[in-house]
Amino acid sequence: MNDLTFADYRNMLEEHLTDFIPDVDQKSITLYESMKYSINAGGKRIRPVLLMAACDFCGGKVAEALPYACAIEYIHTYSLIHDDLPCMDDDDLRRGIPTNHKVYGEAVATLAGDGLQSVAYEVIYKDMLLYFDDPDALKRRIRAGLEIVKGSGVKGMVAGQIADIEAEDKNCSKELLDYIHITKTADLIRASVRSGAMLGGCSEKELEDLSVYAENLGLAFQICDDILDIEGSEEEMGKKTGADAEKKKATYPEVYGLEESKARLRELTDAAINALADYYDNAELFVQLAKDLATRSK
Ligand code: IPE
Ligand code: IPE
Ligand code: MG
Ligand code: MG
Ligand code: MG
Repeated sequence: MNDLTFADYRNMLEEHLTDFIPDVDQKSITLYESMKYSINAGGKRIRPVLLMAACDFCGGKVAEALPYACAIEYIHTYSLIHDDLPCMDDDDLRRGIPTNHKVYGEAVATLAGDGLQSVAYEVIYKDMLLYFDDPDALKRRIRAGLEIVKGSGVKGMVAGQIADIEAEDKNCSKELLDYIHITKTADLIRASVRSGAMLGGCSEKELEDLSVYAENLGLAFQICDDILDIEGSEEEMGKKTGADAEKKKATYPEVYGLEESKARLRELTDAAINALADYYDNAELFVQLAKDLATRSK
């Protein structure tokens, strides 16, 4: 693995993040602007960094993972634009600036999300086209692409989003809560890590260990998001806090209480780190990231 830091990967991503958004025709300029508005608003970029780092970890070339890293960030950003819509969580602030629909209106924001999703798959298909003469490389890319579709799709993020909406205002069982958190958030994080590993030509053991890491990290990440909705500051988070309780959302603190949620966050973080125990110093970035995300304030 290279000695690249989280910031190195993030800088590499951000340098190319808008390269893959096609130049749209003047008649649809609003679509182009609204997609870029949310993409360029920042964000932690943890999914694309995980994808690139996993590719690197498994011996692949980071530059070759870039289209997939951009695709995962487009998909994640689309999910946030839709998540914030009045018909979903109805939020006005995201990544420290007004939400997409507050600036462009609901119709444009809906289409900006749709547009970002389709650009993600356009990028992936265009990349695959370059590898027609190299069946092994093409196979790795098809596997990675499928992983991303599944993580973001109707058994992954989208399934989690509908379960989240339907659980509002109801008593949520522990089982349903885990289903919501795993599908709406952990599945896309897992897909980021697994697709990166696949692009890097991972071994079966690497894929298995990285998957366990990502599943634990992904659930921990959403639990921390729930805790920060109560304890975090709006300024640091760049989004409104206290909104989950207002909407009676199914969250860890709501079902388990704050202290138990924090204990579960620590437990899952340890489990994520332990999954990579066989790799010693080579997994430092993943280990540090799990620790940093569990103690984050934004
Ligand atoms: C927010 O994701 C949505 C959740 C899954 C909790 P992030 O916290 O990664 O959002 P950005 O990309 O940093 O804005
Ligand atoms: C959103 O979860 C998960 C997505 C798939 C976007 P939340 O609704 O808790 O995310 P925030 O708190 O608005 O960022
Ligand atoms: Mg939501
Ligand atoms: Mg939300
Ligand atoms: Mg939240």
